[in-house]
Amino acid sequence: MSDKKNKPADVVANIVSLAKRRGFVFQSSEIYGGLNGCWDYGPLGVELLRNIKEEWWKSMTYREDVEGIDAAILMHPRVWEASGHVENFTDPMIDCKVCKARFRLDVLGDSISDKKKDKALNDLRFEIKDNSSLIEKLENKIANPGDEDPFNLILEDNDLGKLLLSKLNCPQCGNLNSFTDARKFNLMFKTFIGPVEDSSAVVYLRPETAQGIFVNFLNVQSSARQKLPFGIAQIGKAFRNEINTKNFLFRTREFEQMEMQFFVNPKNDKQWYDYWKAERLQWYKSLGMNPNKLRYHDHPANKLAHYAKEATDIEYEFPFGWGEIEGIHNRTDFDLSRHEEYSGKSLKYFDDETKEKYIPYIIETSAGASRGFMAFLIDAYYEEEVNGEIRSVLKFHPKLAPIKAAIFPLVNKDGMPEIAREIEKDLRRNFKVFYDDKGAIGRRYRRQDEAGTPFCITIDTQTLEDRTVTVRERDSMQQERVSIDQLSKYLNDKIIM
Ligand code: GAP
Repeated sequence: MSDKKNKPADVVANIVSLAKRRGFVFQSSEIYGGLNGCWDYGPLGVELLRNIKEEWWKSMTYREDVEGIDAAILMHPRVWEASGHVENFTDPMIDCKVCKARFRLDVLGDSISDKKKDKALNDLRFEIKDNSSLIEKLENKIANPGDEDPFNLILEDNDLGKLLLSKLNCPQCGNLNSFTDARKFNLMFKTFIGPVEDSSAVVYLRPETAQGIFVNFLNVQSSARQKLPFGIAQIGKAFRNEINTKNFLFRTREFEQMEMQFFVNPKNDKQWYDYWKAERLQWYKSLGMNPNKLRYHDHPANKLAHYAKEATDIEYEFPFGWGEIEGIHNRTDFDLSRHEEYSGKSLKYFDDETKEKYIPYIIETSAGASRGFMAFLIDAYYEEEVNGEIRSVLKFHPKLAPIKAAIFPLVNKDGMPEIAREIEKDLRRNFKVFYDDKGAIGRRYRRQDEAGTPFCITIDTQTLEDRTVTVRERDSMQQERVSIDQLSKYLNDKIIM
């Protein structure tokens, strides 16, 4: 068997196609032409997504210092003023006056070729050649871009951005100098609560689950009789009206988050930040994600969000490059202080032991369930050559696999289907299993490989003699005989491993 893990450039396209064909992910409202930035999870996808969320929930809340909650998606509109989302949760946006296409200014450079960028920069240099301070600013941005594209940095600059824009053609219709000035575009979806559609009834679909945790800090702390340090975890939908959705599930308008806020004494913030940073990376590894495709991206001090003291992203190497799958932040006392100020209610914690009263610091772990889903799906995808044929296989960790075992009678006669149905009935009590009696055994294996099923159980002639079956393991394709009465325990041991 040769491993063809070196993924082709169009690996995302292959995976999107497999995801549709096998029922992992469908485009939302497909029969109406789809709805941009929204996706539906099919029968296999919903199992994979549930398993990811279940593993996260277990690892985060099956411990004595973290409680779970499930807060409402709609929250009091003042929440989003306190959090800063009404004012700051914006992207700079420009429109083409000719074709009406809309672009995010800060990433416009990504859709322009290097050759065209060089030409536009040279034209800009020529235009500002007599203005030494602008020239200096321009060259400084080119020489010190940090980890940003200097072209995008220049586009975002108050003095240089507009001039550079005038040298560009619209990536959609090709017209030169056709862009509007940049405007702030708020990413929150607005709706109305109650029957009157006026400004006093505006509410937002939450753009993150975290705020539902902050506002419940004291409710949870007192009802669960928790002492600091402790955390609150939540899984739920979040909504962002992203201007540019892209890369399948990577940036969507509706997605799920798995967030945990850990409340600590400010004196211990560093210790807990380091602890959660290590824990969260380990979680991905423990579920089989390739460690070589995982890394931290620590935010440099000059790039930290205004509320953060320290921050890192856990990144996965997608076929299109490294991308954040989870953020870990030391959010200081920013969130609770702001909610205290805007609600007028004290959110201070009284420490019985030290007799201190203070606003806790928060260490946040914020993972995307849908983005994690995509990373697990891509990481598990292999194309391998077996006996001169290519098999597509999803090598999910057994805990994440949508179907845990498939059950095949070798032939549909001689009492084999009856035994197979007996096994299916028994295993179904604890596992998601699949019964298949159609086609040659090799084809049945291939279908399960593509669905990521870790074990295939075959009932054959020997079963009739000694009540043993073959269990074929997906990745090694090795088979072993297991007694029928040991099957449940066998699967349990292998899945929990
Ligand atoms: N409470 C902090 C927060 O929401 P974030 O970095 O904006 O931080 C956290 O989001 C995680 O949510 C990201 O690491 C990503 O996995 C996921 N996420 C954010 N925006 C997303 C989008 N438009 N589509 C899919 N996942 C998204």
